[in-house]
Amino acid sequence: MAKDIDWSSLGFGYIKTDYRYVSNYKDDRWDIGKLTEDETITLHESACVLQYAQTCFEGLKAYRTVDNRVVCFRPDMNAKRMADSAKRLEMPVFPEERFVNAVEKVVKANMDYVPPFGSGATLYIRPYMFGSNAVIGVKPATEFQFRIFTTPVGPYFKGGAKPISLRVPDFDRAAPKGTGHVKAGLNYAMSLHAIVDAHNQGYSENMYLDSATRTKVEETGGANILFITNDNTVVTPKSDTILPSITRRSLMHVAEKYLGLKVEEREVFISEVPYFKECALCGTAAVLSPVGRIVDHKNEILFPSGMEKMGEITQKLYDTLTGIQMGRIEPPYGWLREIR
Ligand code: PLP
Ligand code: COI
Repeated sequence: MAKDIDWSSLGFGYIKTDYRYVSNYKDDRWDIGKLTEDETITLHESACVLQYAQTCFEGLKAYRTVDNRVVCFRPDMNAKRMADSAKRLEMPVFPEERFVNAVEKVVKANMDYVPPFGSGATLYIRPYMFGSNAVIGVKPATEFQFRIFTTPVGPYFKGGAKPISLRVPDFDRAAPKGTGHVKAGLNYAMSLHAIVDAHNQGYSENMYLDSATRTKVEETGGANILFITNDNTVVTPKSDTILPSITRRSLMHVAEKYLGLKVEEREVFISEVPYFKECALCGTAAVLSPVGRIVDHKNEILFPSGMEKMGEITQKLYDTLTGIQMGRIEPPYGWLREIR
């Protein structure tokens, strides 16, 4: 029985669901893992995560399809990216196959929280891992906890599909050879001041530039960026210091193979942004959120698609991607994992 939740008015917030998955790592091995109803965690005061932020996470979603199946979108890709994050942060990898099985298990246990088809809401899945034993010298933990919780969510940005405004901040997100390419909690900790400052000034997000030269577009705090040229080419920044978004890689495939568009993953200079006709943010939480305006200090860039609705190509990409996720359009092999 679906829970009594007003699905269509959900924002992007935490709602407790019945079960979460937990597995502990100790003496060089992961235990077998289990579901628990306890959403709280008790930690040592000197746990490595609390002192030195040794933590990484993932984000993916489960959808109810047009024919009432429940599917997860490309969980194997999140498993792989979390393995990359763990290695970069000196944490043990939670085996990729076990990751996918645990996602399935926790979604199955919370099936009644998977929002109905057509409600505009989805079940957000948050796997994460942290160093749990006491350390005081700067070194990695030797004990870890891997968990997955779920929460039903609506649109990440208020206003849903309405175009948002970004600003180019005076803060950097990631350094060359730093951790920008992995999903480390520390990347988000350092973005909190910048996002509060952006919100205070009326912007939805920060569009970060590369910290080495401050000339190239990177990404926002929680999503990659796509641009559309006047001749309908889909352009996305190529950089070693941005998160390799699964949504972005999926959209580039959709653009090329489903919509027959030209795609380019390349360096994008801030100086060329005024010449694009559409812009959007892409990610699991953001899905594909249109951008109408970018303010770079004294320069204001207004995209021809305007502040009222998505641009034409953005809309096509959105319809095709969400059509695949909701089972209305045939997916590429392996993109949907059915939960039964
Ligand atoms: N970039 C950042 C910094 C993110 O936090 C996210 C969210 O996961 C993304 C990009 C989008 O990645 P994905 O499409 O895999 O969710
Ligand atoms: C996601 O899209 O899953 C993310 O992790 C982004 C986060 C800012 C909510």
